[in-house]
Amino acid sequence: MELYKQVFENNRKWAEEHLKDDPNFFEELAKGQDPEFLFIGCADSRVPASEVMGLKPGQAFVHRNVANIVVNTDLNAQAVIQYAVEQLGVRHVVVCGHYGCGGVAAAMQSQDLGQLNGWLREVRDVYRLHAAELNAITDDEARYRRLIELNVQEQCINVIKTSWVQKMYLKTGYPTVHGWVYDLHNGRLIDLEIPFEEKLAGIREIYHLEVD
Ligand code: CO
Repeated sequence: MELYKQVFENNRKWAEEHLKDDPNFFEELAKGQDPEFLFIGCADSRVPASEVMGLKPGQAFVHRNVANIVVNTDLNAQAVIQYAVEQLGVRHVVVCGHYGCGGVAAAMQSQDLGQLNGWLREVRDVYRLHAAELNAITDDEARYRRLIELNVQEQCINVIKTSWVQKMYLKTGYPTVHGWVYDLHNGRLIDLEIPFEEKLAGIREIYHLEVD
């Protein structure tokens, strides 16, 4: 069967499976969402957010773009973060990169990529911030992997810079921000264990807000 048509057959079975376990599954979900996670990941088709986390519908609010970038002037990402933090009250904000990221690979080359030039400049800025460490890595693959990790770390910092994350955290102790990398070769998630409180303290020296 053509994949396009197969999708509707797949969907029918998927919905039936959920109803078998819980006849009210969809009706309950339709009442509202209370996700514990905001997941910010790459748009890459090989990194399906909820699936790799083993989560059900309703458990993760998801935002994805090329190379999992969080830009201050990106209305889309900023609206997602504010809504997730202030309205949904997510406990965890995760920025998840992945080894083998085409966006990061493109940012390491000097070719003209059209619309992606400006977007991927964010990754080049990450490179510039960490150029001493990255340039000291002689193995190309190892340098690529490290840039993927450092990009996740810097995008976590961009999340922590937002006023809504700072305000909510100081009021409630949530959300905490985490950096993960997904390994396409074995399907495993790696927690980079970015020291959130330490990063927040450093950021508040410069980007702090007064909180009533
Ligand atoms: Co990617």
